[in-house]
Amino acid sequence: MTESNSVVRLEKLAKAYTDGQTFYALNHIDLEIGRGERVAIMGPSGAGKSTMLNLICGLDVPTSGRVFIEGTDISQLSDDLRTRLRREKVGMIFQSFNLLPTLSALENVSLPLRLRNRSRREAERRAREMLERVGLHRQATHRPDEMSGGECQRVAIARALIFDPPVLLADEPTGNLDSASGEGVLQLLNELHRELNNTILLVTHDRLTAESCERMLILRDGRVAEDSAHPSTIESVLTESL
Ligand SMILES: Nc1ncnc2c1ncn2[C@@H]1O[C@H](COP(=O)(O)OP(=O)(O)OP(=O)(O)O)[C@@H](O)[C@H]1O
Ligand SMILES: [Mg+2]
Repeated sequence: MTESNSVVRLEKLAKAYTDGQTFYALNHIDLEIGRGERVAIMGPSGAGKSTMLNLICGLDVPTSGRVFIEGTDISQLSDDLRTRLRREKVGMIFQSFNLLPTLSALENVSLPLRLRNRSRREAERRAREMLERVGLHRQATHRPDEMSGGECQRVAIARALIFDPPVLLADEPTGNLDSASGEGVLQLLNELHRELNNTILLVTHDRLTAESCERMLILRDGRVAEDSAHPSTIESVLTESL
């Protein structure tokens, strides 16, 4: 893979917690992910999947190592610039949606633009377009408690994609949904991926979902135990770990 089409690059990325002795939640990972790749991330609970996504989006700071987004080393950025890069280059969706409960769908989706000092009018115009795109035009004025789980996750997707970021991180996005709503959310992510050619890192415990991605990583004890882009024994590891 050439430097120019690497969208996410991790260099010896590590996150350690010290509590008497040092424990590596992420243990010096090297990884390169290209534009438009959909990567499923699997592995047992505690393997470091959420830690890895939180470091990639700059929500968390590594103990050592580096994260490059489109060639920019985010660890070298000031807090302000890192926050800006996170909002504009890396969209993130979570198992628990993380919508603001007192805001309507439209206000939740507009928020990233409002935080970048765009006018309310412009922010809401763009947010309406996004809500329409995820099939929620009718729910624009609804608060999260007035929507279903699947609808809330669609709002979160609209919010994550409002800047048209090259990278979308999804941490078990269907984990709190029934299977029909979960399927709907995955279909939406696939449609958007076809349109936008964004890079998607998707944490999932579901093997079928993982198999619908072009690339599969298995994390174990803070390391990449398997990477289907560099296949060796992916089938045996899957059988053994699931
Ligand atoms: N603030 C913290 N202090 C100490 N240890 C932590 C902290 N945050 C996470 N960990 C540990 O880091 C390890 C990796 O956690 P992480 O949340 O990345 O796992 P995960 O692979 O996402 O698991 P799950 O599938 O359950 O979501 C776990 O052992 C966890 O206990
Ligand atoms: Mg997790």
